Parts: sequence; C-alpha cells; structure tokens
Amino acid sequence: MYAFSSLLLFGALAVQSVFGRPDDVRAKRDAEILKRSVDSFVETETPYAWQRLLCNIGSGGCAASGADSGVVVASPSRSNPDYWYTWTRDSALVFKGIVEAFTQSYDPALQTQIQNYIAAQAKLQGVSNPSGGLSNGAGLGEPKFRVDLTQFTGEWGRPQRDGPPLRAIALINYAKWLVNNGYTSTAQSAVWPVIKNDLAYTAQYWNQTGFDLWEEVQGSSFFTATSSHRALVEGAALAASLGTSCAACTTVAPQLLCFVQSFWNPSQGYAVSNTVNGGSYRTGKDANSIIASIHNFDATAGCDAATFQPCSDRALSNHKIVVDSFRSIYKVNNGISQGVAVAVGRYSEDVYYNGNPWYLATLAAAEQLFDALYVWKQQGSVTVTSTSLAFFRDLVPSVTTGTHSSTSATYTGIINAVQTYADGFVNVVSTYKSASGALPEQFDRNTGTPIGASDLTWSYSAFLTATARRAGRIPTSWNANGGKTLPGSCSGLVVAGSYASATQTTFPASQTPGGSPTATGTVPPPTATGDCTEVLVTFTERASTSWGQTIKLVGNHPTLGNWNPSNGVALSAAGYSTSNPVWTISVVLPVGTALQYKYVNMAADGTAKWESDPNRSLTVPSKCDGTSSSDTWR
Ligand code: NOJ
Ligand code: NOJ
Repeated sequence: MYAFSSLLLFGALAVQSVFGRPDDVRAKRDAEILKRSVDSFVETETPYAWQRLLCNIGSGGCAASGADSGVVVASPSRSNPDYWYTWTRDSALVFKGIVEAFTQSYDPALQTQIQNYIAAQAKLQGVSNPSGGLSNGAGLGEPKFRVDLTQFTGEWGRPQRDGPPLRAIALINYAKWLVNNGYTSTAQSAVWPVIKNDLAYTAQYWNQTGFDLWEEVQGSSFFTATSSHRALVEGAALAASLGTSCAACTTVAPQLLCFVQSFWNPSQGYAVSNTVNGGSYRTGKDANSIIASIHNFDATAGCDAATFQPCSDRALSNHKIVVDSFRSIYKVNNGISQGVAVAVGRYSEDVYYNGNPWYLATLAAAEQLFDALYVWKQQGSVTVTSTSLAFFRDLVPSVTTGTHSSTSATYTGIINAVQTYADGFVNVVSTYKSASGALPEQFDRNTGTPIGASDLTWSYSAFLTATARRAGRIPTSWNANGGKTLPGSCSGLVVAGSYASATQTTFPASQTPGGSPTATGTVPPPTATGDCTEVLVTFTERASTSWGQTIKLVGNHPTLGNWNPSNGVALSAAGYSTSNPVWTISVVLPVGTALQYKYVNMAADGTAKWESDPNRSLTVPSKCDGTSSSDTWR
C-alpha cells in the first residue's frame, strides 16, 4: 500500500515537472481527449476514404463509370466545378499513396489498380495535346486529359511541369517493389519505359517556367523543383538496379538541388513557393511548400534542410509561417490561439471560390508534423535551432536552442506538444467533414460547410497518407541523403532526352511477394563497365548572338527535331560572354546513331538562320561516358 501510493506520488511529480501549473494539467487532459477523438475519427474515416478513393478510379470505380481503366478522376463533380478530368498530378499523388500502401501490405486488388494505372499512363504519354507531343517530350507537361484518355483542348494553365516527376516517383516505387520481389524483368519491360520518358522530360525542361500546382502562376514552383529533384535521384538509383543508367538524372540532379535552395528566404524563414519573373502580388507563403516537404520525406535523411525534410529547421519554420498566414483570414479560425491547429488553405491571397481552407492542405500540415515526430523518436532527440525556435516556442514557450535528448523533460514536452498540434489539424478535418465523412475540396472560410468539388480523390489520399504517418507507417527511402551533392554554384544545365511510346505494358499474372526471379529476369551488366544503349553527347557552339536570339541544334533525329528548327533543341547561354560566346547543350542519344546536324540562329520572331553547308556529322559512340563536339558557327 505504501509502495503503491509513493508510486502515484512519483508519477504526479514527474508530470508536474512538465505540466506543473493547473493550466498544464488541463492541457494534458485536453490533449488526451483530443487524441481519443482523433483516434475514433481515423478508425471510421479510413475504410470510408479508401472506398471513396477507389470509387474514383476507372473503369470499375463506383463513381468513375465512363473513365478508362487506370484513370483517376479528380472528382466525380461534372459542374461547378467540372472536375470530370484526369490530372497527371492528382493521379500521381494518389498512386504514390496506393503504391506505398501496397508495398506495406500486399493486396492483389491494389496491384491490379497499379498495373492499370501504369498501362493508362503509357498510353497517355503518347497522346498529342496543346502542350505538344511525345517526340521532344513537350506533351508530357500537359496537366489534364479527358477521362477517356483523349486530349483536353480548352484554355488552361499549361504546361505544368510537376506531372512527369510525380508520375515517375509513383512508378519508380512500384518498380522497386518488383525488383525487390524478383520481378526485375517486369520492371524493365513494362514500367521503366514509362518512367524513362518522365525522367527525360524532367531533366530537359526543369529550368523552364510553367504553371504551379494550383494552375495559376506561371513561373518556378518550389513543389515542382523538389519533386523534380527527388525523381531524378530516385530514377538514377532505379536505373542502376535495372542494369541501365540515367545519365541525364545524375547530371541534372545536383543542379536541381541547388535550385531548390534558391527558394529559401532566410530573413523571413520560409520557402517562397513561387518565383515569378517581374514579381507578384503574393507573399509566396503557400501550402505548396508544406506539400513539398511531405512528398520529399525520407526518414533516412534525418532532419536535412537541403532536401527540406519535414523535421528540418527550415521546413518547421516554414510550417509555422504558412500556417500562421491563415490564422487571421478565416472566420473558422477566430479565437484559436497561436500554437493550436487551424484550418489551412492554399495561400492567403486565394480567391478561387472566395478563398477557403482545403482538406488536403490542412492534412498536409498534420502530415509534416507526424513525419517529424517519427524521425525525432527514431533519433531519440530533437534539435532546436535559431531557425526553428519560433516554431517550437509556440508549442513549448520555455524551449531553448540546442539538442534535447529523449531523457530530458524538454524532449517529452516537445514530443507531446507536437503530437497534440498535429492531431489538432486532423481534428479540424474531422470537425468540418461532411456528416457522411465525405471530403470534397474545400470548406467554407466562414461557416466551415464542405464546398467545392465533391469527393476529391486527392482529399482522401491526403487523409490516408497523413493518418498512415500518425500510425508510424512511413514511405521507403528515396536516397535523399545519398543523392545529395550541392554544387558550388547553380547552373541551369539541362539535358535533351529521347522519348518513345511505351507500348509493352502487360503484367504477368501472380506477381506475389517474394516470388523467385523469372528466367528472363536477369539484369544485364551494369553500364559503367559494359555497353550503354544511350549516352550523353555534349554540343558546344561558339556563336556571337544579339539579344533575343537563341542557338538551336537541329538534325536528323527526333531529339533534334527531325530537321525542323521549331522542334530543335535550344542551347544554353549560361556560359556566354562577349569574349567567349559559348552556347552548350547535352543530349541523350542512342548509341550508334549516325547523326547529321547543324546549328540554327533563331530570332525572337521565330525566323531561322541556318549555318552554311555541309551538314555536320557525328556517330554516337557506345562507350558509356559519351562524347562531345566543339563547333564554331559557320
Ligand atoms: C481551376 C484550377 O484548377 C484552380 O486551381 C484555379 O484556382 C482556378 N481554375 C482559377 O484559376
Ligand atoms: C485544382 C487544384 O488547384 C489543382 O491542384 C488540382 O490539380 C485540380 N484542382 C484537380 O483536383
């Protein structure tokens, strides 16, 4: 009896050191109540969200009748707004989540969905559209298609360059599962050809402007940049495991990581989500950056700031600043104090449907914190820097900079507070969901009423990934650490790729976990020692030009526009000076190609001035380190 009561006393004292004052005791009780209510929401919403998400996938989905096999419909809503289309971004993010769930727990029905998705995307890559065609990759930047896989020709914010890298990421993760389970030949024949086109696009177009994920701003988007970096790093590793290589990936990835850093605003402590030439009316505080952080999550990278890991000081400071930007603008957030979860929208200046909070943005705010909690617990410490101090102070006012180990009361205080904060965002979604549990796109900023596109597939996916993290289920590593090399200075280096329609997308039956490799599944020798099928050829042309003129490479290969200057490859003037007027471009070409080419000076109005005859020629060698050609204008 004595021992029992002293135990109780000890327990009370231990609690008191963190939750000393009556206010803190109340806070602890409230946190417990919140946790239980979120637990019960998650329990009922999870099966519902899976069901509704799968309903939106053709052809069998209960809300997707009329959509082709493997096509993700953004929402069944056909008017106000009409979302009866398939967006490359939404579909890729949804399938990234499906593949993650599938790899964690084998499910043949999900596998069929994944295979259908891959087959649909293979087909879609070949559909010419207002952004272009497949021959030079430009058409891969088209943001949305009709649900029967035909082009959408209406006016739209195009291209959107996050689609190809996001789709590559989703497919790479299925290909990795195939390799790990002995089905390398399937990954090589049915998945890699689709991934390869998307990686080529990313390496070729990353440095050109495009529309952001909200389809509004033409410029460079943080989310597009981080997604592009991840795809190239993960793509290079996959290529190696398939016995091939992605020279463009390894060449361009460091430049992309360099570019990613340029979005950071050190004095304000957030990632400016869109950089637009000529400035913009927006602050750049945007859920774009929170979504970037959760889709770049790699627990093996710890709290790395360069890749904007969820627990990095930069991403946490950014979380605070973005979330705070919504505190005073929505009536539903009135009276909620700093450090307590609120409804989160896309960005504060949003006017779409009057500018409201979105479920997927609110859930992203939760997911980032669950990711962070996972890593801190794994590390057994939390590091607070001057960059992240303000984020932590909102939650634990007495916290100081430094590393707080798991044995300290500060660590416990932080973990508990962040957990409660994260649960709070899930609770906001629970509070404002439809009575049935349905999640459309938005909820009203004043009344909290669910509005906008009904049953938004991405909303359900955002719920499922955020709550998977809450339960400690995390995605596999994308080698965020290993792929990390920051060049001394950034360059806009791009590599022009070659593209081919992926036609062979049949999947053998019964590819269950741990199957033994099929007879044909032997991986060809690694390219570093053997022959390559494609190599990098770097072209340098010395040509003095005047403002507005560009030098293009044009020749007898689809990558060089088949002699059509408007489809040729633009060279970069990054190394150009008056004394050394150098234009360069690296191009991936099939070995053995007997290339005929010329340079063309393109005027701003599109007039082409060709070099004099004869055509230049070059045979692409088979040695894997490629070749280069140094030319001077004639
Ligand atoms: C439709 C887009 O999907 C949405 O993101 C955008 O805000 C509106 N058009 C208005 O431009
Ligand atoms: C509008 C959103 O802004 C955009 O991100 C999304 O792709 C489409 N709706 C379709 O859901």
